[in-house]
Amino acid sequence: MKIITALSATLLLASHAFAQAPATSAASAPAPVKPVTPAPAAAPATPAAPTPPPAPAFAPANLTPAGVRSMSATCSSCHGTNGVSAGGAIAGLAGLNRDYFIIQMKSFKEGKREATLMHQIAKGYTDAEVAAMADYFAAQKR
Ligand code: HEC
Repeated sequence: MKIITALSATLLLASHAFAQAPATSAASAPAPVKPVTPAPAAAPATPAAPTPPPAPAFAPANLTPAGVRSMSATCSSCHGTNGVSAGGAIAGLAGLNRDYFIIQMKSFKEGKREATLMHQIAKGYTDAEVAAMADYFAAQKR
C-alpha cells in the first residue's frame, strides 16, 4: 500500500511536472516564430527589383499658340516673364533673333556651347519646339 501511495505520488508529481513542461515550452514556442515572420516581409523587395518602372512618356508636343506660350513660360523663372530679363545675370530672350536662338539651343544640346544649365534644358526640346519658342521670343518686346 505504501508503495502504491509513493508510486502514485511520484506519478502525480511527474504528471504535474509534465503538464507544466509543455506549458512552458508552449509559452516560449511563439518566441522563435516571431523572428521568422519578418523574413517574408523582405521578400517583396526581390520581385520589385527585376521590374523597373517604365520610362516616363513625354507629353506630345503642343505647338498651338497656347501650348507654345505655356512651354515658353517655363523659361521665365530664369529669363524673366515673356523672356524680358529682370536685369540679373541671365540674359533675356525677348526680341532675340530667331536664327540666333535656334543655333544657341542646338549648340547647348550638342555640348558645343559651354553652359551651366542650358545643356540640360535644351535636351528636353525637339527641333520643332525650339523653333516655335524662337518665334515666340523673337516676337516679344524687350
Ligand atoms: C534654371 C534657369 C534657366 C532656365 C529655366 C532656362 N534657362 Fe536659358 N539660360 C540659363 C543660363 C544660366 C544661361 C547661360 C548659359 C548657361 O550657363 O547655361 C542661359 C542661356 C540661354 C540662351 C542663350 C542666350 C544668349 O543670349 O546667348 C538661350 C537661347 C536660352 N537660355 C533659352 C532658354 C529657353 C528656351 C528656356 C526654356 C525652355 C530656358 N532657357 C530656360 C538659365 C536658364
